[in-house]
Amino acid sequence: MPFSAIVGSGSALPGDPVTNDQLAQQLAQKGVETSDAWIRERTGICQRHIAPAEVSSSDLAAQAGARALEDAGLTAKDIDLVIVATSTPDMIFPSTACLVQKKLGIEQGAAFDLQAVCSGFVYALSTADLFIRMGKARNALVIGAEVFSRILDWNDRGTCVLFGDGAGAMVLQASEEPGILGHVLQARGEYENILRTAGTVSHGLAQGHPFLTMDGQAVFKLAVEVLESSAREVLSQARLTTDQVDWLIPHQANIRILQFTARRLGIPLDRVVVTVDQHGNTSAASVPLAFDQARRDGRLKAGQTVLMQGVGGGFTWGAVLARLTR
Ligand code: ACO
Repeated sequence: MPFSAIVGSGSALPGDPVTNDQLAQQLAQKGVETSDAWIRERTGICQRHIAPAEVSSSDLAAQAGARALEDAGLTAKDIDLVIVATSTPDMIFPSTACLVQKKLGIEQGAAFDLQAVCSGFVYALSTADLFIRMGKARNALVIGAEVFSRILDWNDRGTCVLFGDGAGAMVLQASEEPGILGHVLQARGEYENILRTAGTVSHGLAQGHPFLTMDGQAVFKLAVEVLESSAREVLSQARLTTDQVDWLIPHQANIRILQFTARRLGIPLDRVVVTVDQHGNTSAASVPLAFDQARRDGRLKAGQTVLMQGVGGGFTWGAVLARLTR
């Protein structure tokens, strides 16, 4: 079978949402000043989920993965590849994918992590598609999972209000009809300094001083540029136009980045899936979380064309174009 198709999705969010007002109150106790109005106006974020200390990326990934398996009508016995995109793994090794394999009782096939920060999920989905098309896997569980709250400097109001924790998953299956229509992946290491976390995470906890730092305006400018170029490139590969895209699901970093991208591509905002208001920026989890939400609320339907896009640290970016088969 020369193609792969998305046959299930799932997601997981830890605990209750933390609203901007609640976060502002918590930060005020540390002497860090922010407000709902500032966060909403500059980013579109209204709330985010923050994992309690005992919850790790593999826990969220396993929950999302179990829901995706159920949605696909498959069991652990069917999965022969697990890829977890994460920048906040539980530990240096084993990989979060191996921990997920154990938690879900998957006893066959390969499992590995993929690190491309906020582009991680589109990198992972593209990789799984290639495995399937080469005949090396039949049912791949592809997950984006993060506990970014662990790598935030909670004294830096310019970054700590932007992110949230969560996981999203898809099952990609060998298929006779095309599901994944194309993908493009890019990286440009020369921009490594505009968004980085120069430290390590162990057992889901930051070691040393490994907090995220960002040149927000440089990230904004580059993100808008590459989201447009990667969308145009993947569409041109598949000989489709932006008019034929039913749903655009960009990485959920900031509502203004989403609006700029949609405008540049000529795609109206009512064909863009937006979850940044509810989840904040969940890095590698943002695209599969948004996909699962839109699928479960009935917006995404069989036969539709969906363009998913990642962009983030590295600098990395990419796009996956898919036709939904169910
Ligand atoms: N609350 C209140 N005031 C704040 C806050 C806050 N949370 N954060 C910053 N400010 C203040 C600053 O201190 C500054 O005050 P000053 O003028 O008195 O010095 C003022 O707001 C403006 O700060 P800037 O950093 O210049 O704000 P900017 O308009 O650039 O907005 C933002 C910042 C929202 C991060 C913007 O640069 C942006 O959208 N960047 C895109 C990057 C992004 O979304 N990154 C997410 C991760 S990357 C990714 O996923 C691809």
